[in-house]
Amino acid sequence: MELKPAGIEEIMRFLIREAVVFPTAEIYSSKQAFSGFYTFGHLGTLLVEEIKRLWRRRFIWSKERVYEISGSILTPTIVWKASGHLDSFWDPIVFCTRCNRTFRADHLIEEKLNLKAEGKSVDELTEIIRSNGLKCPVCGGVLSDVRRHYLMFKTKVGVSVEDNAVLRPETAQVIFLSYPRIRNVFGKPPFGIAQIGRSYRNEISPRRGLFRLREFEQMEIEYFVLRDAKCIPFSREEAERKGIVGEDLRYRPKCMDCKRCQVNNCPYFTEEYRKTLLRILTREAQLKGSEEVVEITADEAVKRGILPNEWMAYVLAEEVRFLTEDLGVPFNAIRFREMLPEETPHYSAGNFDLEICFSFGWKEIVGNAYRTDYDLTKHMKMSGVKMLEEVNGVKVVPHVIEPSIGIERTILTILSYAYVKAKVDRKYDWLKLHRKVAPVKAAVLPLMMPREYAREESKIARDIWRRLCEETEYHIVYDEKGSIGSRYKRYDQWGVPYCITVDADTMRDNTVTIRDRDTRKQVRVKLEKIPAIVTNLIKGRIKFSHLE
Ligand code: ATP
Ligand code: GLY
Repeated sequence: MELKPAGIEEIMRFLIREAVVFPTAEIYSSKQAFSGFYTFGHLGTLLVEEIKRLWRRRFIWSKERVYEISGSILTPTIVWKASGHLDSFWDPIVFCTRCNRTFRADHLIEEKLNLKAEGKSVDELTEIIRSNGLKCPVCGGVLSDVRRHYLMFKTKVGVSVEDNAVLRPETAQVIFLSYPRIRNVFGKPPFGIAQIGRSYRNEISPRRGLFRLREFEQMEIEYFVLRDAKCIPFSREEAERKGIVGEDLRYRPKCMDCKRCQVNNCPYFTEEYRKTLLRILTREAQLKGSEEVVEITADEAVKRGILPNEWMAYVLAEEVRFLTEDLGVPFNAIRFREMLPEETPHYSAGNFDLEICFSFGWKEIVGNAYRTDYDLTKHMKMSGVKMLEEVNGVKVVPHVIEPSIGIERTILTILSYAYVKAKVDRKYDWLKLHRKVAPVKAAVLPLMMPREYAREESKIARDIWRRLCEETEYHIVYDEKGSIGSRYKRYDQWGVPYCITVDADTMRDNTVTIRDRDTRKQVRVKLEKIPAIVTNLIKGRIKFSHLE
């Protein structure tokens, strides 16, 4: 299937016009207000809540031993000293010596020179700029040397001369801080700790609307698993003896064969997940300059050593199912790219980031990292609190596999494939949201009636609406303002899958019409069946065509 993601500018124009999201402090000039901060309006807030609900259902509520926390956003600096962010969390910045504009150096090089630049040192980037004669893209002025720009917002807690606190740049560290207490209450790993919350990064040039922000929300899980201390990767010689030549052995632990080790024994990696297809862009392909993905089952990807372990394979399979089954994203718009060594974060032994085909190219919306025992070891050393477990008589620090999903980038993903431009048949742009993620599932709309019926009709319509609110778990709206055409338009623009209209016939024969957003077909159904019909349609138990 040919992919046709909607343009990011169009999506953002639509979202702002409909007050789904809009720039915070937009009433002030761009000089007075900062970019990279957005406020979610009514529909935006509902959409975020729906994404969170679907994520929780899938990743937390339907799994044994995944626990959710909600921690502090403002955290002591020492946490970030321990985690390595204080030293390693920076982006390369360059400024124009004539107009003073600043740019992210690696992005500028990638855009203007079409060269891979992420992960290069500031000296290497300066050298690329000089040797290619790259100038300011706005005024053509000479660019400065590249410098480090640290991304964390620092502040002071209490009366302090020095900055002693940081707005967290990821929710993950608060999970690591909580590990000892959760472990003491819920027992030994394996288990997951999940958290949804805001994170902050002082990005150099926030852009592409919701894609690069300075304040954004993440849904993260750290899965803690015990790795046998003897479980080191195969050496090349051992691998050759076992006949697994040519495979990537970086993370292939010996316990893959014995299965005793938790790293390769993920209880969630059941048959249906094993069979889930993944599209993976390997390091090898990238080094050859190829964009060709391997399409492979999650099970095969672990067996062939493409993925480091069963937990990572489960995580990637769950993400594919979340995006395709819950959010309506096409399967071939999703790929996992193994990051090249120079792009991999300082804490990770390997990242398989989920990328989406946007109108501006394949871009990451989920970071999937094999964080190993990196973070807990660092916090153990810095705090003095032991976080060890015994495995086969040896004390080990638990290993961690982490999926980290950004909510705003998820919204752009959904809209890239749900936003429909105005055409001749429907003269307004609208949202073809998947029924599961549509924040408003149905709208009850009484038709405009002759005055003698109007009051009765409105009462019946409100009663239906109340019943729907009581008997379904969904958000349903009631609206009697404006012509029926303008109301259909409003709810198509909100992505509401079904509209229920009450009219003169309702009073005669106790029926109402239900309208399908995508086909605009309408059928009459018995009034008392409406809550069951709406529930069954939303749950996918019946199709609209079954009602016709
Ligand atoms: P990028 O390379 O695009 O800056 P990243 O590699 O820094 O992204 P991660 O650190 O892996 O991103 O963060 C995990 C997830 O958090 C991302 O996949 C994304 O969805 C979200 N995220 C990170 N930074 C931002 C940001 N500035 N604005 C919006 N979402 C973000
Ligand atoms: N927790 C991963 C990240 O935000 O980078």
